[in-house]
Amino acid sequence: MENTNTASSSQEARVSILDQIPLPNSLLTSSISSTNTIPVTLRINNIEHKLQLDPCVTLLDALREYIGLTGTKKGCDHGQCGACTVLVDGHRINSCLALAASYDGEEITTIEGLAQGDDLHPIQAAFIEHDGFQCGYCTSGQIMSAVGMLKEGHADTDDDIREQMSGNICRCGAYLNIVAAIREVVGNGLQRM
Ligand code: FES
Ligand code: FES
Repeated sequence: MENTNTASSSQEARVSILDQIPLPNSLLTSSISSTNTIPVTLRINNIEHKLQLDPCVTLLDALREYIGLTGTKKGCDHGQCGACTVLVDGHRINSCLALAASYDGEEITTIEGLAQGDDLHPIQAAFIEHDGFQCGYCTSGQIMSAVGMLKEGHADTDDDIREQMSGNICRCGAYLNIVAAIREVVGNGLQRM
């Protein structure tokens, strides 16, 4: 009984101390309102999207929550897993670490923009052929990262592929098949697409 009371009063003390810590304006809910939005134009898969966004909105959230392109996945939201990988002007980035407003006017490619109609990108086709996935949650990030890596032109060996793809985590452990899929495309001489 005594212990419970002690825990309860220390909890109350903690709460009242927290109540007294002044929050910076940027963390107050009232400051994150639609009145603080700015116009942002995102060019995604050759389509222009004119948005009104809070400057703090990440590119990942803009894609998923504002534009409805949910193929790009949110895994860690901290730049650790690669599930959110997209291409900006052909270069791969983690969209969870990017502010959407910083990419105004740049050419962004997501997994939805990779195929040409019914023609899959060679990396997409190779992932299917080699079963380069299980649950599929990491797959769009893996594929976008592989496309970016091939353009970089440093994937000559399996070790290169593993090293260059090390920012993309697969919780299902489909790595062997992912490397096999990428190796096939590299072997077909499609390093630079
Ligand atoms: S969600 Fe962006 S790196 Fe994990
Ligand atoms: S296929 Fe499940 S996390 Fe990669």
